[in-house]
Amino acid sequence: MSSLPLEQQLSSQEVVDATRQFNFGTWRFQKNWSPLHIVDADRCHFIDSNGKRYLDFSSQLMCVNLGHKNPAVINAIIEQARTLPYIAPGYATTARAELSRLLTEVLPEGLVKFFFATSGTEANEAAIKIARMFTGKTKIIARYRSYHGSTMASIAATGDPRRWPLEPGGKGQGVVFAPEVNCYRCPIKHQYPGCDIACADYLEHMIANESDVAAVLVEPVVGTNGVLVPPPEYFPRLRRICDRHNVLLIADEVMSGWGRTGEWFAVNHWNVQPDILVTAKGITSAYVPLGLCATTERIAAYFQDHYFAHGHTYEAHPMTLAPAIATIHEMQRLNLVERSRVMGQYLGEKLRALAHNHPSIGEIRGLGLFWALDLVKNRETKEPFNTMPDKISGKPLLVDQIAAEMMKAGVLVQAWISHLVIAPPLIIEKSEIDCAVEALDSALALADRSL
Ligand SMILES: Cc1ncc(COP(=O)(O)O)c(C=O)c1O
Repeated sequence: MSSLPLEQQLSSQEVVDATRQFNFGTWRFQKNWSPLHIVDADRCHFIDSNGKRYLDFSSQLMCVNLGHKNPAVINAIIEQARTLPYIAPGYATTARAELSRLLTEVLPEGLVKFFFATSGTEANEAAIKIARMFTGKTKIIARYRSYHGSTMASIAATGDPRRWPLEPGGKGQGVVFAPEVNCYRCPIKHQYPGCDIACADYLEHMIANESDVAAVLVEPVVGTNGVLVPPPEYFPRLRRICDRHNVLLIADEVMSGWGRTGEWFAVNHWNVQPDILVTAKGITSAYVPLGLCATTERIAAYFQDHYFAHGHTYEAHPMTLAPAIATIHEMQRLNLVERSRVMGQYLGEKLRALAHNHPSIGEIRGLGLFWALDLVKNRETKEPFNTMPDKISGKPLLVDQIAAEMMKAGVLVQAWISHLVIAPPLIIEKSEIDCAVEALDSALALADRSL
């Protein structure tokens, strides 16, 4: 709500025009950017300036896990602003101590030392620097189907085409890409389970031949690039490979953490302990910008006698930490990790049922309340409707048309190249899932007609 007198308040059109004129629209060509003016949000919905309500079927950017306007988190922000809105990172604060203790309860075992950043990107930057300082080695092995952030090291470690416009200079030093684990479109043309997860073994081959590898950086369940869930053997094997070669395993749980997959963190599905875990988004349900880089005691101990060459003015910013405490308490109070598992099954069944009526659906995959609908021109060949070069060259994408159709019907769903990512707030009700799946059912006619 504006604090200006009524006659000075901007009209909705003026808000949109000023936003377009003065701001960059991210990850896009600018010329057709016409952002909706959003004025309110509540639980699983957000509302535009015309009063139209949208069901948030992707939690914005897969981040508003608690739903919009959770009162406990809002109160924590207000209280912290009253108590101590800012103090430099060199000081101890109650919020910092309380959150740190709480994190040791909910993070995978063994992660006990924390660096607080203000985004997933920054948390990955911290992880990469810490891995390099700790190991004295340089190379990071990441995978092609991945996104790790937008700044120089994290975009260099990003396999997806958001890296391409920066090539070759933006690549940074020392990132090597491995094949992803993707059983629907295996990059090395194997078939699970006969493959004995050769994609993991190939990573070992890379480590052995590269030398100087500091860490393997992976999303345990790949997010934007298709909700790729690995087979159960993959992570335990990757852990053993890293151990054999004295290479750190960094789990990027920016999107897959905080109950999204039906566990507090996705690595819990396979009982694997990473050396470094990076997260953000759901840690505060995105109400304030917080990223976390969590490390083990072994890594922490190294820096007792070595210079920790990293920091930000906003590190451990009290305004970001207090709402994280409230978010974790709310997740516990509402039993949201369990809820994600249960409602995720319901959602998964409804989505799978869609595949019977829509030949354009190639695969439906997911875990917890984290799903992808992979759309194809042909189920046999698995040919997608659009490609990575289409995305980067600004060609209209079929999935964007479907997402636009869904918005007309009052449902937000995120689209990426040739799939949709479905990740509603963990508080979503069955009736809301039914509503959104119904809208999806109608919108998918667009894809079926394009076959
Ligand atoms: C897996 C993963 N890592 C890192 C990031 C970057 O996080 P942020 O956008 O908060 O910088 C994202 C963002 O979508 C992500 O999905």
